Amino acid sequence: MTALSLAAYVSEVTRIVDATGGDVTSLVQAIQPLKARLLKTPDLLPARFQEGLEACPYTRNLLHADPKGRFAVVGFVWRAGAETPVHDHQSWGVVGCYGNEMAVVDYSSPCPRDGHLDADREARLQAGQVVCIVPPRERNIHKMLNPSGALSFTIHTYGDAARLCRVYDPRDGRATDCELRFHHQLS
Ligand SMILES: [Fe+2]
Repeated sequence: MTALSLAAYVSEVTRIVDATGGDVTSLVQAIQPLKARLLKTPDLLPARFQEGLEACPYTRNLLHADPKGRFAVVGFVWRAGAETPVHDHQSWGVVGCYGNEMAVVDYSSPCPRDGHLDADREARLQAGQVVCIVPPRERNIHKMLNPSGALSFTIHTYGDAARLCRVYDPRDGRATDCELRFHHQLS
């Protein structure tokens, strides 16, 4: 498997988004192997992306924004032990581990009785591994965490501008829309 540069990856994803229209399953299946090749390219996340980690558990860094807002590529740097809130996404996603190890904990849909969410299963992602998110968002409730004792790195491609998500309180399923920011940009 040959490495794919960020520019080539963006070009390929653009072509796929142009070609597949609304078929999200085909779209993420086509992007997944490209993401695996992107993860083989070194130095995608410059050291300056670690600036700010003393004040927050992870940084979100914009690598590419599609000019039409149809997708975005975002690089994360995770402090040891860092953890997201329980959340979902309004779009599809293709998520790859770029270094060390990450864990993804999937949650149940809200309980019809009291709304609470159960942690159903945890998957470990090693460097080079890729997972996909396909709507509907209610079946994609999850959190990510860095179980390694060191920094970890991930690269996410989302099917929107990556500025919105919905955060859940797992005790009662109460959901809050959240606006997300980028700590750094590539250029
Ligand atoms: Fe997520």
